[in-house]
Amino acid sequence: MKYLLRSLTGITAASLGLVISMSAAAQQKTVADGVFTEAQVEAGQLVYDGTCKACHNMKFYEDSLKSFNRQPLIYLWETVLGTMPADNPGSLGLNEYTDVIAYILSEIGFPTGDTKLDPDNGMDQINIVPL
Ligand code: HEC
Repeated sequence: MKYLLRSLTGITAASLGLVISMSAAAQQKTVADGVFTEAQVEAGQLVYDGTCKACHNMKFYEDSLKSFNRQPLIYLWETVLGTMPADNPGSLGLNEYTDVIAYILSEIGFPTGDTKLDPDNGMDQINIVPL
């Protein structure tokens, strides 16, 4: 019995170590970790006011975000890039799409940080989570 207990503890410790090293390797973050800058939010507001405001309010984005819960932020970016604005999809610059997503996240209540949100750099490692 004593032996069994000790080997079980060993297994748990080993698998825990594995989980820790895996998450460190992937550097998984969430939208709550300050993954966009204040400058992006300001730029994104201009895009939003000019291009998105006519058809959506912020409540709409909060609800949309829920359907992307636990998914990488890049999926939302790709969806918006491919389908929005609905009357002219893909018509904005890639930076404008990125900035508008930063603005929406900020309006919902997520914090700004020092690192720029960049679809080519780690956006697939940032998960959408509830506030
Ligand atoms: C001409 C109207 C119009 C404009 C302008 C517009 N949208 Fe949309 N948007 C829609 C419609 C219609 C839908 C689909 C609504 C639904 O699924 O209920 C939608 C859906 C969305 C979704 C949900 C996508 C999904 O699959 O969950 C997001 C996010 C979104 N829009 C963001 C934006 C952003 C950001 C902008 C500005 C760049 C924008 N929209 C501009 C009409 C518009």
